[in-house]
Amino acid sequence: MSYLEKLDPEIYSAIVDEQNRQVDKLELIASENFTSKAVMEACGGVMTNKYAEGYPGKRYYGGCEFVDVAEDLARERLKKLFGCEHANVQPHAGSQANMAAYFTVLKPGDKVMGLDLSHGGHLTHGHPINFSGMLYDFHGYQVDKESETINYDDLIRQAEKIRPKMIVAGASAYPRFWDFDKIREACDSCGAYMMVDIAHIAGLIAAGVHPSPIEQADFVTSTTHKTLRGPRGGVVMCKEQYAVDLDRTVMPGLQGGPLMHIIAAKAVAFKEAMTDEFRAYQEQVVKNAKALSEALLGYGYKLVSGGTDNHLMLVSFIDVPKVSGKKVEKALDKAGITVNKNTVPFDPEKPFVTSGIRIGTPAVTTRGMKTDQMVTIAGFIHRAIENRRNDDALADIAKEVSEFCREFPLYQ
Ligand SMILES: Cc1ncc(COP(=O)(O)O)c(C=O)c1O
Repeated sequence: MSYLEKLDPEIYSAIVDEQNRQVDKLELIASENFTSKAVMEACGGVMTNKYAEGYPGKRYYGGCEFVDVAEDLARERLKKLFGCEHANVQPHAGSQANMAAYFTVLKPGDKVMGLDLSHGGHLTHGHPINFSGMLYDFHGYQVDKESETINYDDLIRQAEKIRPKMIVAGASAYPRFWDFDKIREACDSCGAYMMVDIAHIAGLIAAGVHPSPIEQADFVTSTTHKTLRGPRGGVVMCKEQYAVDLDRTVMPGLQGGPLMHIIAAKAVAFKEAMTDEFRAYQEQVVKNAKALSEALLGYGYKLVSGGTDNHLMLVSFIDVPKVSGKKVEKALDKAGITVNKNTVPFDPEKPFVTSGIRIGTPAVTTRGMKTDQMVTIAGFIHRAIENRRNDDALADIAKEVSEFCREFPLYQ
């Protein structure tokens, strides 16, 4: 019997149930992944006990010599992985990483441009109910109505008109490559800082399968738990000229003690991300996304921008009467397939209903699934959508999905 099972059977059984859910269902949420056991071992280790306010060699607490080793390794590995000048690995999550970049160079009320949430952006890119939209004067840019991709000439024109202090690139639901030279051009046209939030595409960039913004951007922020396949957390990378101000902004500006167990686990994930195996994994993530999107197009579904260059795709039901993202998410869930409803560009529905779903391949690719399995998954998705009002049919699909998943063992 485990310590946890003995002490807290309720939490123990919730964790076991969650593990079984992860094993038995098809995890297609684009922002999720399965970390290695080594990453989890670091997350669950004794470094969780240590207070370490400050930075390696300059802490406000004694006894930091070993957590210093972990944080130094995490910083150096991150710098090497992305080729950046300075790295801060302390932000507790992606939102805090974005907050840190903003607070380093912006003042409340400053104008900022970011991709609209309903066009693929993130809450922290200026949504009115988020701190970003409350503190700064955010102006959203959007995708082109026809191509459903960013029109960089329009973006440059908008920047010249608004003259923001910062332009934020990056997204939670944008299936195409970013052109970071064009974003830099937009920034230079009005003297704006360039920030790129690579939370979703960090693993692809680390492996060289998506262009990197490190050269062009002043600040690059990320989560560590999506395609990068590390523990839940955030990081900020920047040019050396901002290093002192960024570090001061993160601590003491925004946070107290860093999560040293998570920083140790980040270091482990960065080491894993430097391997040939990780590069091959990311190449497969993209191949799988292309295979899945082509199979869905074959069933007649509409994909935002017509397909994908990265790890995710958005299926749009905007032209399908009486079908919403919410209904499809629910039907797929009953069939053992986990996705999230997502707004699509120019969506008439509210964010809690939406006209689309977002599908990603990072987690299923970690399980070892390849393009053949993507064709099978597209078949499951199509059958579940066709049978969305038939609970018996959905339960039958869930059984098949579970058997299919068990062919790709996870944490055994
Ligand atoms: C582009 C982007 N930035 C930031 C975040 C926020 O990360 P976190 O949930 O760790 O705060 C997300 C999370 O979904 C994201 O997609």
